[in-house]
Formats: sequence, C-alpha cells, structure tokens
Amino acid sequence: MNNYLEANKDRMLEELFTLLRIPSVSADPAYSEHVFATAEFVKEQLIKAGADNVEICQTAGFPIVYGEKMIDLSKPTVLCYGHYDVQPADPIDLWDSPPFEPVIKDGKIYARGSADDKGQMYMQVKAFEMMMQNNSLPCNVKFMIEGEEEVGSTNLEIFVKANKERLKSDAVLICDTSMIANDCPSITTGLRGLSYLEVEVTGPNRDLHSGVYGGAVANPINILCDMIASLHDEQRRITIPGFYDKVDQVSVAEREAMAKAPFSIDDYKAHLDINDVLGEEGYSTIERVSIRPTLDVNGIWGGYIGQGAKTVLPSKAYAKISMRLVPNQSHEEITALFEAHFKKIAPASVKVKVTPHHGGEPAVTPTDSKAYKAAEKAMEVTFGKTPIPLRTGGSIPIVTMFERELNTKSVLMGFGLDSDAIHSPNEHYGIFNYFKGIETIPHFFHYFSIL
Ligand code: BES
Ligand code: MN
Ligand code: MN
Repeated sequence: MNNYLEANKDRMLEELFTLLRIPSVSADPAYSEHVFATAEFVKEQLIKAGADNVEICQTAGFPIVYGEKMIDLSKPTVLCYGHYDVQPADPIDLWDSPPFEPVIKDGKIYARGSADDKGQMYMQVKAFEMMMQNNSLPCNVKFMIEGEEEVGSTNLEIFVKANKERLKSDAVLICDTSMIANDCPSITTGLRGLSYLEVEVTGPNRDLHSGVYGGAVANPINILCDMIASLHDEQRRITIPGFYDKVDQVSVAEREAMAKAPFSIDDYKAHLDINDVLGEEGYSTIERVSIRPTLDVNGIWGGYIGQGAKTVLPSKAYAKISMRLVPNQSHEEITALFEAHFKKIAPASVKVKVTPHHGGEPAVTPTDSKAYKAAEKAMEVTFGKTPIPLRTGGSIPIVTMFERELNTKSVLMGFGLDSDAIHSPNEHYGIFNYFKGIETIPHFFHYFSIL
C-alpha cells in the first residue's frame, strides 16, 4: 500500500508547493483572480487523480470545486470537504520568508495555507489518487472543495441547499483541524460557533482639537474602551444579559475525561512567551478553549495613528468583536443579545452602530458513528495509538449546516498541530503530518466501507 506513497512523495510535495504559491486570499478583493485560479488548479488535480464529473461550480462569490468517483451505488459514499482559500498573510513584516513562496525548514513547510487548509485538503486528493492507482478505492467518494471558508461559507450554504441529491453521502470527511501532538493523535469531536460583528461609536460630527474640546465632549475611543472593558466581570465572565442562558453544561464525567488529555501548562506558556494564562474562573485552560464561550476584540482603531503626535479628539472609534459559542448557543440570538446590550450601555453622548458579519453554529460530532470508528481505527494503524476524542476552540460552521441540510454527520480527522501558526505569520505544516494524512485517509476509507 505504501510503495506508491514512497515512490511519489517528491511529486506530491512539489504539487502542494504549486498550490501554496497561488495567493488565494478570499477576504481581500485584490486577490480575487488568484482565488479563481486556485479553483482551476484544484479541478485539474482532481481530474488527474481520477475523479469523474469534475466541475467548477460558480457561485455569487468564489467557486466550489466538485468531483466524484462512484464505483458502486450499493456501497457507502464519503463526501470529502476542504477549502482552498486562505487567510490574509498580514502582518507580512513578521514572516521570516514570503508567505506565498513555500520553503522547508526543520521538516516543516512554511507558507500561508500550508496547514489551513491547502495542505490538509490536498492530502485528501493525494490519498484518493493513491487508492485509484492501487485499485483499492473501497467505496464511493465525492469532493466538495470551497473557496470561501475563511469568509463564512455563505455561498456554500446556497450551493448545498440546491444540490442535496448530488451531495448525498453517508459521512463527511473533513481534514481541517489539529491533533494533540505527532505522537498523540486525537480526533476533534466539537467545534465552537462564532458570532462576529463590527461596532462603530460616533461622538462629535468631526475630529476636534483635543485641547479646545477635550474634557467636555465624549471621546468615542475612550467610551468604546469603557464599553468593551465592561463586557467582562472580575471572574472574566461575559456580562451580556442572557449570554450563558443556553450554554450546555458539560457533564462531570466529560470534564474528567478532558482533564486526562496530555497537556502541559508550562509548555503552553513557554510556547506563547507569556508569564500566565487568563480566562474564566473555575475552568481549566483546555476547557476555556473548548467548552466555554468567549468574547474577544479582534481589532480596534480610530483617531490618529500616523507618525508623531497629533492632538485630536476623534469623531469615531471602531472595533471588530468575535464571540466563540458552544452548544446550544445560537449565533443569531447571541448577535442580537450583543447588539441590544451594547446599545443599552452606550452613554447618551455617543451614537452606536453594530454591523454583524458572518457567523456559525457550534458543532458536536458523534463518537459512536461508523465514521468516527473508522477514523479511530485508521489512526490506530498509522500512529500505533488510539486517538483521543477532543473538542477544540476553532469554528467550522459548515459542520452544523451539513447536518441540517444534508442530514449527514462529519468526522473531523485533522493532522495539524495547534502550534502550526494558522492565521498567524509563519504558518507551517509538518512534512510528517502531510504524509501521515495521505497514509491514514485510505485506511479510513477501508474501515468505513467494511464496518
Ligand atoms: N480550520 C479552521 C478552524 C479550526 C482550526 C478548527 C484549528 C479547529 C482547529 C478554519 O479554517 C477557520 O479558521 N475557521 C474560522 C471561522 C470562519 C467562519 C472564518 C475560525 O475559527 O476563526
Ligand atoms: Mn480551515
Ligand atoms: Mn482558517
């Protein structure tokens, strides 16, 4: 089985490099042609790997690449999902090598998208190629690879609703998450939801001289900081009324199981160069990033930020705020609660505007399903260890959407590491992880088709 992998490693790496060189940043319109070009590349590679009916499906935004290999309708079908778009590379100055010129250092591939998700999505394509070449594809497979994951998958939902029959499958396989360590495999069994919005606080109708007016007129930046600070209490709980009402309380048994996962707080702190962690009282670090909801400012701006000093009392202040949600919070409800609360706490001296961005629902995936067991067995074969089921903090909103629209559950068999610096400068993906994924996925297919 692995002879093919051994013989083709260099080419499989070279192809990934070609994919990583296309800057498919979905958030920035300046990169739009590259996002479309990436879809073309993915299409070509699916065809070369042996998929049928490969098609670039246009949407109101970036296209979805579809392909399939139906070998026998009486056999089960796996729907492979991944995304070919990437996060912006900013801040570019902090990269040690250019983000779209992949290089290998210490056994890792450095490039934007190497781990999230080009490297992981491409493992699925290469694993499929390998099964085709070895004549060992044991069941049907469909590919749906999108270009808007990093901006909320809005058009994917429309596509899914319109293509329910074509997308019919018995399980969705997603490789877009991380595991505990290279010698400690895990399978993600829960993801947080997301409510993302932007706030605008307006004071006077124009920027003012901070000496002439300062002290008498509300400074929207000062006010915004007060308002944001008030969103957490001393226990670092979120103060928005009703915010925790629907939060699913995780059982003592599950919390005890989580506490058994290997985790070193000292390594964690050392890795981030922080003297201490900070979070909601009464919960461990692992719990704070998985089973508890959060509120974070992602960006804040306003006033004068150029060279030197300019005395100004600004007219406006802005912030981008995200809330990570857990079962059974709903992103629309939480967004509404935030908006009402934020407007209520604003003093009469300012005006407040809240603009929701994309959102997504939290997800919990089953551990008693055929797909989970197949992933577990596959990792047992290739890692020699039983993977640990673990909820993580990131969000993949389409998991809940697939459940709702297609009535199909997902299995989140990711091969990244939390230390891969996804969304950060110097994102990287281990060569070990890339090939481990390609090696493991065919075992997943094997067990899925016999269990
Ligand atoms: N692949 C990530 C999510 C992820 C990363 C889950 C690591 C678990 C471990 C995905 O591409 C992502 O970044 N999602 C966004 C949400 C999306 C709506 C923009 C996120 O989590 O911020
Ligand atoms: Mn991703
Ligand atoms: Mn991402």
